[in-house]
Amino acid sequence: MPAVIEFDDVTKSFASDRRSAPTVAVDDVTLRVNTGSIVGVIGYSGAGKSTLVRLINGLEHPTSGTVNVLGVDVGRASESELRGLRGRVGMIFQQFNLFNSRTVRANVAYPLKVAGWKKADRDRRVDELLRFVGISDKANQYPRRLSGGQKQRVGIARAIATDPEILLADEATSALDPQTTAEVLDLLREVNRRLGITIVVITHQISIVHELCDEVVVMDGGRVVDSGDTYRVFAHPRADLTRRFVAAVTQGVPSGDVLTSLAAGGGTLLSVEINEFTSEDVSAVFHRHGARHSVVYGGVTDVLGRQIGTLTYRVRVDGAADAAAGSATDAAIDRIVAELAAHTEVHRPEAAVKKEVAS
Ligand SMILES: Nc1ncnc2c1ncn2[C@@H]1O[C@H](COP(=O)(O)OP(=O)(O)OP(=O)(O)O)[C@@H](O)[C@H]1O
Ligand SMILES: [Mg+2]
Repeated sequence: MPAVIEFDDVTKSFASDRRSAPTVAVDDVTLRVNTGSIVGVIGYSGAGKSTLVRLINGLEHPTSGTVNVLGVDVGRASESELRGLRGRVGMIFQQFNLFNSRTVRANVAYPLKVAGWKKADRDRRVDELLRFVGISDKANQYPRRLSGGQKQRVGIARAIATDPEILLADEATSALDPQTTAEVLDLLREVNRRLGITIVVITHQISIVHELCDEVVVMDGGRVVDSGDTYRVFAHPRADLTRRFVAAVTQGVPSGDVLTSLAAGGGTLLSVEINEFTSEDVSAVFHRHGARHSVVYGGVTDVLGRQIGTLTYRVRVDGAADAAAGSATDAAIDRIVAELAAHTEVHRPEAAVKKEVAS
């Protein structure tokens, strides 16, 4: 698949005053965005996400490395080449950035006017765009009379007016409630599937990436610490930050007081990662070994319709009622753990507690 955006060893630093070191906002980033994909860039505040976006639309030049967008070398392009490029890259914002003194229609027509479209063509195009984003009835209203979701629909109509190949969305749903966010994400999916526009979504919300993005780039301190197919990245995180994002929505492995009280309930605690190996698969293993089990902790979340997470089970294997029962049970648990471990990650959270007590 051809790439529409290519970063090769890109660093962007900002000079500060003479005494302190420059801020490295983007640090040695190499990435590819394939034509027609929806890519999420996720990271905490200050990770360098907005700087990455500004490098894509040529508002910033790389300090070193090359940024190539739609065949244009952003660091070496002339001002007029950059203007041409910006016409092929649409953008939507958290605060919508609409002209409050102009109607919805005039807001959407604005980029067409700048591009020199004739009045009749503009009108036709604006009608079509307002229909596409579902706010034809608001054409003659002013932005202040619209809800946040409606404003972002205007923002999207304006951003795609001139038929860009790429749409950049920097925290575009951060000011919206969950229901409106879901509607705007649906619309972005339509923009991608029906118009074939490649979308780069900048966010600090993992749920947006899970619901919308085919691919994800995880940024931490200017660096890309994890990237690739969204399900792969979250089901098998490579970076601590990715693991933290996952744990924030799935709870992970119990620890501290929670673990102590769970351990007091008896049986053996096993924490199993759910990924391609599902909770049904885990249950099947327990059944095969004649073990009773129940979920006592954890959570799973949907990534593009598939599940990831960690579930902690309390497992009981009934042994014979003699002195050897304890070790027979241990052996059965060991066999279960070995079978699960052949497919996915298994933790025995109590082992950590026992070690602490022993030392
Ligand atoms: N024009 C600039 N001059 C100096 N420093 C800058 C400039 N732009 C960004 N930075 C610094 O670069 C770092 C990355 O900033 P950036 O805005 O890209 O982060 P972000 O991931 O978008 O954060 P947020 O989630 O808060 O929007 C920060 O330390 C910021 O202070
Ligand atoms: Mg930002």
